[in-house]
Amino acid sequence: LKHFLTIEGLSRRTILEILDTAESFISVGQREIKKVPLLRGKTVVNLFFEASTRTRTTFEIAAKRLSADVINLAISTSSTSKGETLLDTVRNLEAMHTELFVVRHSLAGAAHLIASHVPPHVHIINAGDGAHAHPTQAMLDVFTIRSHKGEFEKLKVAIVGDILHSRVARSQIQALNALGAAEVRVIAPKTLLPTAVERLRVVPYSDMRRGLEDVDVIMMLRLQRERMRGALIPSEQEYFRVYGLTPERLARAKPDAIVMHPGPMNRGLEIDSAVADGSQSVILPQVTNGIAVRMAIMALILGPPAEVRPAARRGTR
Ligand code: CP
Repeated sequence: LKHFLTIEGLSRRTILEILDTAESFISVGQREIKKVPLLRGKTVVNLFFEASTRTRTTFEIAAKRLSADVINLAISTSSTSKGETLLDTVRNLEAMHTELFVVRHSLAGAAHLIASHVPPHVHIINAGDGAHAHPTQAMLDVFTIRSHKGEFEKLKVAIVGDILHSRVARSQIQALNALGAAEVRVIAPKTLLPTAVERLRVVPYSDMRRGLEDVDVIMMLRLQRERMRGALIPSEQEYFRVYGLTPERLARAKPDAIVMHPGPMNRGLEIDSAVADGSQSVILPQVTNGIAVRMAIMALILGPPAEVRPAARRGTR
């Protein structure tokens, strides 16, 4: 891997290599991720122009577990506030001998733009760009699905909520289709579905009850109010009444269905607390899995080739 900007175009084989590499970092019993020296002497810069709790922190932990040095640039107190451009900011950080930038930006294409301007020894990971893509989130999501459900070929997955503005949904759909999921459904009011949604290779539903029928995995999404222009949705109470995931609606899915959410959650808006904190929820394991998956992506980009890496437990799938 040179950069990690999008799931689009990634082969099933590459996605599985990332999942297997992530598994190799998790010790038996899954209690801890050991520190390994794969990125010793390398410097990773977290460049987050948008708020983040999970992604920024798990990238920092992941980089430290790989023995890299980590810089978290505080954007609000950086010289971007004096008008320095995105590319000049990156060029100046590059001049400090940094090798890997993890970039989150409100503009779609920001990470691609940087990637097209950096020298060959510098690598970019997209940590979310506008409504376009959030590829590392999708990778930790499919890692979580595989760890609970095994192979993808028989799985019916429902993605529920604000599909239109969700970079997470776009990347999840690409990853699930690349892995051969039996069916990917999207459930949303028509105003929160992209036009020509079928081109995404999904089955759209507006009726939450029908859409959840017999699914193995439910992936809830946050309403992306910061990306909405105009009144696209009903009131919050109305939205929860029609699209909120309650225990009664969850009962439409398979009895062993898992419930996922990338966070941050709006309890009582898209998901009932009884479901978010219930026995079928894997929302916090998703966060934990983000460490190993982000380690895998950084190690494959910047680490030594697999054949000269210290022995690690290999994935089995
Ligand atoms: N899922 C996710 O991207 O969360 P953060 O915005 O907290 O990073």
